[in-house]
Amino acid sequence: MSGTAKSRMARRQFVAGTTALAGGAVAATVPPSIESARADFPWANREAYLNTATEHPLRRQTTERIEQYLHALTHGPDSEREKFENGRLMTEVKERFARLINATAGEIGFAPSTQTAENIVVEGLDIAASGGNVVTNDLHYGGSLHMYRLRQKAGLDVRIVPHRDYQMDMRDLEKAVNKKTKLIAIALVSNVNGYVHEVKAISDLAHAHGAYLYCDVIQTAGAVPIDVKAMGIDFLACSAYKWLMGGRFGYLYVREDLQGGALKPKLFGGRSTAKGGGQYEISTVSHIGCVCQHEALEYILGLGIENIRAHARPLTAKLYKELAAAGYPCITPKGTESPIISFRLKDAVETKARLKKAGVVATASGDKNGGYMRVSVSVFNNAQDVDRLVAALG
Ligand SMILES: Cc1ncc(COP(=O)(O)O)c(C=O)c1O
Repeated sequence: MSGTAKSRMARRQFVAGTTALAGGAVAATVPPSIESARADFPWANREAYLNTATEHPLRRQTTERIEQYLHALTHGPDSEREKFENGRLMTEVKERFARLINATAGEIGFAPSTQTAENIVVEGLDIAASGGNVVTNDLHYGGSLHMYRLRQKAGLDVRIVPHRDYQMDMRDLEKAVNKKTKLIAIALVSNVNGYVHEVKAISDLAHAHGAYLYCDVIQTAGAVPIDVKAMGIDFLACSAYKWLMGGRFGYLYVREDLQGGALKPKLFGGRSTAKGGGQYEISTVSHIGCVCQHEALEYILGLGIENIRAHARPLTAKLYKELAAAGYPCITPKGTESPIISFRLKDAVETKARLKKAGVVATASGDKNGGYMRVSVSVFNNAQDVDRLVAALG
């Protein structure tokens, strides 16, 4: 089915859903569509914003909800505040995130950030105490690798497997894993180049050795389909400020049968009495994050992840073709199913200056002797954004 046909079908389902909810009344909400997405993101009309892998712009409607919440916090009355700070809203946010990854709301806890959640997983498994090891790779997030190196210095057996040509070779991973492996930790979609790991093969490898799989999905959630059951993911975490479209807080998924037992809570507070994924939360959560995510997740689920993927595909293919022709070697494997694509640069300083001059936002890192550029797309991007980037660098 084409992206447009899927989009039409999602809209029909959305309208059918809202009609049923309203008991037969005509749905007042305009169903979300990729075609109208650009108009919802004012930033997209100001610059060619190709940097969602760093941070997603806020949707106008999300900002309006946050402003309403801030107004209630500023002016009261208490009944207005309660419309935003309540258990129902928080539960709905968890339900929506759970739907996105094919989990249950009881398997989701709020987390202040991805890296905090990864630390909760590593601590909670008692890896060092049991003489176990952790296997990860150098396509994982730099901050997480720093955390593992510090733990390595403190005595934990950490194995960081190097990539081959910016992909993970399963044979290299297999060599690093043994009976003492307790955890394999990966970024499902790598922030380096958008590489999508062979997640089912990796979870099979982990489980065959009695280990667990942790996935950092900050570059995946909202952009690429995730099914924790089919993929065999035991723990997963992300913040919401990339393809989940805002809210500087996040989620920790813990497979139901691992909660409290295999993964022990190690930090305690008022939320420690909570059941399910909530037992790892410790403190009260970010209400502003919840308000933001409540709106954003409804929008994302309304659009449909497959439609979001279908929209990104021709844009990354165009980038692949046109930047390669302009002399920028791509370090993302051809046909990668993610909205991130990275290129080698001869001079990162010059590239940064050119992008800035042309009003194009992408990540260029390195110095005048070389570096790399990461380009990422979301629902508001179009072919003209890509043209603008190619013209700036050509
Ligand atoms: C793969 C990956 N993991 C983690 C992070 C940091 O996430 P957080 O700020 O939620 O800890 C980033 C930030 O860009 C990232 O790309």
